Amino acid sequence: MSINALIDLLPKTELHLHIEGTLEPELLLVLAKRNNVTLPYGSVEEVRAAYEFENLQDFLDIYYQGMSVLIEERDFYDLTMAYLEKVHGDGVRHAEIFFDPQAHMERGVSFDTVVAGIASALEEAGRQMDMTSKLIMCFLRHLTQDAAFEALDCACKHKDTIYAVGLDSSEAGRPPELFSDVFAKARAEGFVAVAHAGEEGPAAYVETALDNLKVSRVDHGNRAFDDPLLIARMVRDKVPLTMCPLSNLRLKGIPDLSAHPVKRALDAGLVATVNSDDPSYFGGYINDNYKQVAAAVGLDETDVIKLAKNSVTASFLADTNKQSLLEKIESQVASWRKDI
Ligand code: ADE
Ligand code: ZN
Repeated sequence: MSINALIDLLPKTELHLHIEGTLEPELLLVLAKRNNVTLPYGSVEEVRAAYEFENLQDFLDIYYQGMSVLIEERDFYDLTMAYLEKVHGDGVRHAEIFFDPQAHMERGVSFDTVVAGIASALEEAGRQMDMTSKLIMCFLRHLTQDAAFEALDCACKHKDTIYAVGLDSSEAGRPPELFSDVFAKARAEGFVAVAHAGEEGPAAYVETALDNLKVSRVDHGNRAFDDPLLIARMVRDKVPLTMCPLSNLRLKGIPDLSAHPVKRALDAGLVATVNSDDPSYFGGYINDNYKQVAAAVGLDETDVIKLAKNSVTASFLADTNKQSLLEKIESQVASWRKDI
């Protein structure tokens, strides 16, 4: 059996996934009709044709436009359930999911509506598919820190549902330290912290995400490779990176997939993981990311198994749950070896 068969079989977690970025063109059009939202597209083909991006901002403009069809609680439920059903077949047994409440609240959709829809799908998946999950609320970094504080106030009423806070959206010129105070308050309230850093911004943003925001994981982190001392620090402190190869390719952070730093990250001893970011926009879910980057940079079976194990150790699961998932990986690897 091929390495692709191994990738399909491996139990894994997904740690970098924006739920709004899973909105497939088909569902986008269904929801637009259901909610009487006018979009500049008449067909699925026209939607897909619009998904050509030069950079992060280019993508974000289309991404925020797309989420305008999400209005009712059931829209968020349908969106989340569609993602969970899809990746259950990819071997995802645990997902830590980002959402962008500020982008919905500014359109008049309440925080509670968003959380209720997403959370009920997560609960249903727990019951029906034995999938576990955690929810991560992102602050939009193109907005002010005051706006982030308002989102945090809302999140504090949902501590049973929201596990962590993150930082996403336009990175250029918006360093993590602009959000130091709101992250300090979030951590004091008991939320774990993560942040997008070094996707388009410099290695210095990865450093301040660690120093000022005190993040437990770095989302993307590609540009950290410009600073060998920073990489050494992240290896020493076992700071996981949630990497997203197809996203980096489609947003032109790398010229082609063979330039992706995931192999470098593994070889350096970093806790690197592979994830999908916004799969409906970037042309592939988690297993597509594993398979395409494995072929492009030459990952072998040891690398792929390590990535799946890293996805478990880098997660926010309790140690006992991590242990049982790691054992499931071992037993799938053993049966894959028997078949080759
Ligand atoms: N929001 C959704 N996807 C994103 C990405 N790749 N970077 C920053 N913000 C995002
Ligand atoms: Zn992201």
